[in-house]
Amino acid sequence: MKETERSLFVSPYNEAVLGRHPDRKVRIFDTTLRDGEQTPGVALSTRDKLQIAQVLDDLGVDSIEAGFPVNSPGEFEAVKAIADAGLKAKICALNRCNQADLDASIKAEVDEAHVFIATSDIHLTHKLRMSREQVLEKAVWAVDYARAHGLVVEYSAEDATRTDIGFLKQVIRKVEEAKADRFDVADTVGSITPEAMRYIVRELRSVSRIPIAVHCHNDFGLATANSLAAVDAGAEQVHVTVNGIGERAGNASLEEVVMGLHAFFGITTGIDTTKLMLASKLVSRLTGITVQPNKAIVGDNAFAHESGIHVHGILGDASTYEPIRPDVVGRDRKIVVGKHTGVHSVESRLKEYGFGLTKEQLGMVTQRVKKLAEDGKQVDDAELLALAYDVQGKSVEGQRPIRLEEFTAITGFNFTPTATISLIVDGEKRRTSETGVGPIDAALKAMRSAVSKGITLDEFRLEAITGGSDSLCQVTVRLGDKEPAPVSAIGRAVGPDIVTTSVDAAMEALNRLLWAKAQIGPAGGPRARNG
Ligand code: KIV
Ligand code: ZN
Repeated sequence: MKETERSLFVSPYNEAVLGRHPDRKVRIFDTTLRDGEQTPGVALSTRDKLQIAQVLDDLGVDSIEAGFPVNSPGEFEAVKAIADAGLKAKICALNRCNQADLDASIKAEVDEAHVFIATSDIHLTHKLRMSREQVLEKAVWAVDYARAHGLVVEYSAEDATRTDIGFLKQVIRKVEEAKADRFDVADTVGSITPEAMRYIVRELRSVSRIPIAVHCHNDFGLATANSLAAVDAGAEQVHVTVNGIGERAGNASLEEVVMGLHAFFGITTGIDTTKLMLASKLVSRLTGITVQPNKAIVGDNAFAHESGIHVHGILGDASTYEPIRPDVVGRDRKIVVGKHTGVHSVESRLKEYGFGLTKEQLGMVTQRVKKLAEDGKQVDDAELLALAYDVQGKSVEGQRPIRLEEFTAITGFNFTPTATISLIVDGEKRRTSETGVGPIDAALKAMRSAVSKGITLDEFRLEAITGGSDSLCQVTVRLGDKEPAPVSAIGRAVGPDIVTTSVDAAMEALNRLLWAKAQIGPAGGPRARNG
């Protein structure tokens, strides 16, 4: 097979050491809506939860843990709505080992009950104040009760990874006898290593045939590694969340674990990996938890290349610096120009716009890009195009095709934030109104619909420069468009009012974007111009 036809380029030592497991199927148990929602500060409405559940279903997860129904009427309503939504995935709900919890799940008409009780001496002594016998009794009772009501039952040994192995083996045998469908090893405080996780799973497998799941937290940054190690040792299911959100440092991330299973073991899951980015973006938007730029698979920089040496390699064959082909996970490759740029990056970016500069001109653009970056400026596509014109001795005038004529925004309690904007676009007046989650969202939507729906808001950053309610803020807005060729432009503004400052920044980005688009011309090549 030609290198370029392959999509994964991982180390050959993985296969040599781990072997391939093409016949194994691992279940993906998604807990974004339960453990993910336990991320400090996150609270999802029923509507948000339904939207996420739909995307998880499209993604192909096997189980969706929709919530903890006994927690509140709102939580119950959300779980019930998801259970009633007719999704393909099995809908699961969380329960302690007591009747009130299980009755709420039964009433919510979920398919699966996830019942848990801690098994470690730390939890038994300091939290539950129960004996091991009492814990065993409760676990077995909960499995029996859920089964008697027709539910598939998964039992989780909370804090399993800090539990005495002899007792854990006793627990797995008891819940297997009670006919639980799955046994989950919870690494509740993310405190185990891959080797030790392998040991636990093998020990449990030696005394029981019940399918084993793992639930790994990320306190030491090992959640993905521990989940993969558990599968290597025989686990049949992994608990994951989109973007790895969850209690404290979060849970094992769905995108990392799934790609690891596919790439390192050749194990298939039901996940359509091309939808991973879509799911990540939705969860980030609805939870308000931004994804760190260097996050594996879904971070902004996961497929971005700046250094000259890397870009040179990538342009020869992407396998040199990309272990995963970006389209496999629903992404595009990004060649970024900046301080570490080489002439190859500049040449390839400008070629996308149909610019063929001489070697000398390319060298000049590269030097100027580096200088701008060293002076702290982010060099976007609009800037790069301006430099390309400049080194050719061509004019770069006329960068403001749009003028803001009027802007109002109204917001308040029990009122849908609405913004109205009047723009002069190439001499023509355009007036639009939009609603949004807040006045800034409404304003930016109104601006984009006045100009072109194809324009995307790729980045929005708001920082307070000084303290206090009258503080100055700095807003950065990055807009993009795919037509006539992928192009992006950044705008920045500083001011005391976050709404009008955001509009100022967006106006700058919009003007620079339109200017850049006009330079490219409709066919993706540079517009012919004189001088
Ligand atoms: O982290 C944990 O132990 C849990 C249990 C409910 C499985 O989330
Ligand atoms: Zn957890």
